[in-house]
Amino acid sequence: MQLKEWVTSIQHVSQDEKIHRKAENLLLKMNDDRSSEEEWYALAESIADDMKEIEALRDVAAGGHQLPPLPYQYEALEPYISKEIMYLHHQKHHQSYVDGLNEAELALKKARRTNDFKMIKHWERELAFHGAGHYLHCIFWFSMGPSGKRKPTGQLLRLIEHSFDSYEAFKSQFSAAAKQVEGVGWAILVWAPRSHRLEILQAERHQFLSQWDVIPLLALDVWEHAYYLQYRNEKAQYVDRWWNVVDWREPEARLKQAQQVKWTPF
Ligand SMILES: [Fe+2]
Repeated sequence: MQLKEWVTSIQHVSQDEKIHRKAENLLLKMNDDRSSEEEWYALAESIADDMKEIEALRDVAAGGHQLPPLPYQYEALEPYISKEIMYLHHQKHHQSYVDGLNEAELALKKARRTNDFKMIKHWERELAFHGAGHYLHCIFWFSMGPSGKRKPTGQLLRLIEHSFDSYEAFKSQFSAAAKQVEGVGWAILVWAPRSHRLEILQAERHQFLSQWDVIPLLALDVWEHAYYLQYRNEKAQYVDRWWNVVDWREPEARLKQAQQVKWTPF
């Protein structure tokens, strides 16, 4: 596509004011004899960078998750992982998590609209199960590759050594955790924003501990120890009255910090 066509189409499609202005500026420059081609391409590059940035910040609407394309071919990890496994794992298994997550999100949207929460337990389970599956596979695929960095360096290596004593000790613990996951599940290296350290966790299956890859903002304790002495079996009353003591300053502060983390949307 010619540069002029490209920038005109962007001007028509983009909703972003900054991109609009830059595109307009580029078109003006292209009609200006004093402006050089070098200048045009520098501007075009900066528009492309802005578009990439916007894409990275785009949110995924309820029911709008997509299967991310693999950043390599299905056979690329052979002989360690066969083409057949990679194909089925990505095309069938991951796709079914994406479909299940979209279905759960749309069902919950409908429940909110109709104020009908009869099936809340079912859909929350589906949301956790498929959401965890989708988000963890996104991490998994992009953390592998036919060529790549086989050992961390810099800040991550320093943190691993600080948290697990050495890289070798980290690998041993991670491998042992993975081999001894009961039934099906995952071994996961996590950053704990509270302790400022790394940790290794096992996820048995994966829905038991939420979706993973999400950051809690507001939490309500409904273990019996949180209400039983006062409310006995009236858990619902405890939940309804709890709203009288909520202080939203903490969730607001957490949101502000959590929003600094934004992965590429899928
Ligand atoms: Fe999997």
